[in-house]
Amino acid sequence: MTNGPGLSTDEIMAVALEMAGMQRIPDDSAVYVDGQGLRRVMMGVDIGAAELLLARQLGVDGVIAHHPAGGAATLRFPRVLGRQVELMVEAGVPAEEARAVVQPAIARGMLRAQAANFDHTPSVAWLLGMPFLNVHLPLDEVGRRVMIEAIDRYSETLGREPTVADIVEALSTIPEIRNAPTGVMVPVGRLDRPAGRVAVFHGAGTNGGFPVAQALAGAGVGTVVYIHVAPEEADRLRALHLDRFNLVVSGHIASDLIGINLFVAELERREVEVIRMSGL
Ligand SMILES: [Fe+2]
Ligand SMILES: [Fe+2]
Repeated sequence: MTNGPGLSTDEIMAVALEMAGMQRIPDDSAVYVDGQGLRRVMMGVDIGAAELLLARQLGVDGVIAHHPAGGAATLRFPRVLGRQVELMVEAGVPAEEARAVVQPAIARGMLRAQAANFDHTPSVAWLLGMPFLNVHLPLDEVGRRVMIEAIDRYSETLGREPTVADIVEALSTIPEIRNAPTGVMVPVGRLDRPAGRVAVFHGAGTNGGFPVAQALAGAGVGTVVYIHVAPEEADRLRALHLDRFNLVVSGHIASDLIGINLFVAELERREVEVIRMSGL
């Protein structure tokens, strides 16, 4: 298994970019410590100082995180929320309105990032001499496409307009979601309602909360799929008492895993052994 020449941290990043069809590294992903010839790596959704020490104990050649783990990826993370504007426009929200809805979240995120000790985890990797990178948006984009395909494929077999329950069933055809302990939830709306037009909001930094969902409802979207949502945001949406709007939540780690598992398979195909932890 580990007989290949290994991959550099840049080559590992390039594998993810190619899968997502991206030309450049997005703002929420970064190589913190460069490395060459990585034949055995540890990957987890969240990597901090303890996990880097564990990696050293396990004797791996490098570590891959999914979520931003510091440095520029943490400081610039809010910029990828701009992807929410693109997804909203695709779903029929006027561009100007979409920008106005997302801009406050980006501004808040940039201000919040000022508080972060962005150097903490990367400094541990640096001192350990442990090659370290995180790949966030590209893998979520891959996952988003799988979720949309699953919904389209399942809906085509129905011979009638899908209900919200059908969207839940469609998402549950994805093994990562079907096998997850979290399950799929419908915090806003009802299972027996028509799903209407469906928008999957994944691969956009994080969920769009109340304001994005409200704008989508205004544009005639019947069902929004978030991978997670704060309970307060769901409460605010429920309080609108919208007859034709539903929110489906597919589970954070389960949904992150969709893209991650395809990425791990690509690394293994290149004879890089991947030790899975923290959600994998
Ligand atoms: Fe993710
Ligand atoms: Fe995530």
